[in-house]
Amino acid sequence: MKWWKEAIVYQVYPRSFKDSNGDGIGDLQGIISKFDYLQSLGIDVVWINPVYTSPNDDNGYDISDYCDIMKEFGTMKDFDELLDGLHKRKIRLVMDLVVNHTSDEHEWFKQSRNSRKNPYRNYYHWRHSEKGEPPFRPSFFDEKGSAWKYDSKTRSYYLHIFSVKQPDLNWENRQLRKEIYEMMKFWFDKGVDGFRMDAITFIAKDENFPAFTEDEIQKQYGEWSGYYASHPCLHEYLHEMYTEVLSKYDVMTVAEGPGISPEEAHKIVDPARKELNMLYHFEGMGIGYVPGEFKRVDPNGYDLVKFKEVYTKWNDVFARKGWGTIYLGNHDQPRMVSRWGNDSAEFKVPSAKMLITFLFTMHATPFFYNGDEIGKKGDVKRFLENQKESARDNSRTPFQWDNSSHAGFTTGAPWLKVNHNYTECNVEIQDKDPDSILNYFRKMIKIRKANPVLLYGHYHLLDKAHKQVYAYTRTLEDEKFLIILNFSKESLDYRIPGSFRHDEEILINNYKTCEQHKDKVHLQPYQAIVMKTKSAD
Ligand code: GLC
Ligand code: CA
Repeated sequence: MKWWKEAIVYQVYPRSFKDSNGDGIGDLQGIISKFDYLQSLGIDVVWINPVYTSPNDDNGYDISDYCDIMKEFGTMKDFDELLDGLHKRKIRLVMDLVVNHTSDEHEWFKQSRNSRKNPYRNYYHWRHSEKGEPPFRPSFFDEKGSAWKYDSKTRSYYLHIFSVKQPDLNWENRQLRKEIYEMMKFWFDKGVDGFRMDAITFIAKDENFPAFTEDEIQKQYGEWSGYYASHPCLHEYLHEMYTEVLSKYDVMTVAEGPGISPEEAHKIVDPARKELNMLYHFEGMGIGYVPGEFKRVDPNGYDLVKFKEVYTKWNDVFARKGWGTIYLGNHDQPRMVSRWGNDSAEFKVPSAKMLITFLFTMHATPFFYNGDEIGKKGDVKRFLENQKESARDNSRTPFQWDNSSHAGFTTGAPWLKVNHNYTECNVEIQDKDPDSILNYFRKMIKIRKANPVLLYGHYHLLDKAHKQVYAYTRTLEDEKFLIILNFSKESLDYRIPGSFRHDEEILINNYKTCEQHKDKVHLQPYQAIVMKTKSAD
């Protein structure tokens, strides 16, 4: 059995986790000082966002040296200590692999932009200006919107799908691919346990850059397949990467897969094809916007029926082939409880626990973003109104450790202001409270680990049209679990399906009580219950 199928992944955002030297920026020694905390959670894998040398145009996603550590974060010695210390605690370390682009300050790009004849020229996508500006491609982080940037030195345009300081690498170039594979080996040889592959579907592009109108592209937003990303040669590259690197190590790989179709997803994770292990889709993240308007949140909230449909669809995709992932937030998304639960004083605790129950009872490897285990909130309205870079800071505010100034994150001035609620919401308080979100999180992990049915059991959705309750069963051989999640702030009666009796064992409940009358359970706002039965029907 593959260890990554049974793993619980915890994402550490290094810049905001813990600062060890008072410069206001989280660092590797900071993470090292929190080993006991990480271990206390019961997680198996830490995924750490990029810590490589970077001028920080995009918080480390613009790498200028793949084989060294960002000065603010520490040294390679610190990194080795981090890796070693985690391994001693039986926690694996997964890093970000950012190879769609580098920083424009990377040596390759400096060389590349120098002359049209430079040996590194073809490491990037250049188009001579004599032919005019190449066909429009949108850039995610560029105000003006074009992903082509004119560079006067060689009178050419280079492609940058992300910021202007993140030129896209040219994967058609075999020499470039070889350099990337060598770099991956460098980290695997150190003992790193895998990569989360940033923007990986973008590495393969149609080199002819066929012309599209801006309108066409906007309309297709999210459907990049074929012309913008996910060109068919993506699979050639991933298979080559597997043959030359991945097959030689026992590592975990997960692709970031925005806009990907289930068919494409299958191709990437089908073990027989030998590409990657897992992928995370964005369809869930796209729920709750005003239809047709990518960036405006629907004031009426999101539709649970749609939510269930999407997560069920993707469950079924990976039930057939490959293996899935599940997440409800990360460094690019709003805080989980604010976006999918209810962060008001009244409902924050039960709704955060309910979402935790969801993540740990689905048939997929759960990815958990640091801070969500204590119910960190964010300004979701601001985030959704403006999904540009600055809005992402909402979910990147420093971790809340205790009541001391800046929540114990730093003794200096934090790079980003600490959320003002830190005196009520922090690890120190929740650690001592048996009913806290944090302790619920720990308990839920224990339950997942003790019950293979939660890992491998078949998922079956019940009552798909119910607007407030998300209920499903997980079945493995003669064991069957029923999960009932009230996603609303109302109390309501929910009828338990026939094969479950009212006296079933309740494994976890985010309230003290669970009122049952005959075949009905009276659910309180955001109540979550996991029941177990021996008798599968
Ligand atoms: C991914 C990362 C995001 C980054 C972008 C460019 O989407 O998650 O944070 O800005 O890629 O590397
Ligand atoms: Ca620091």
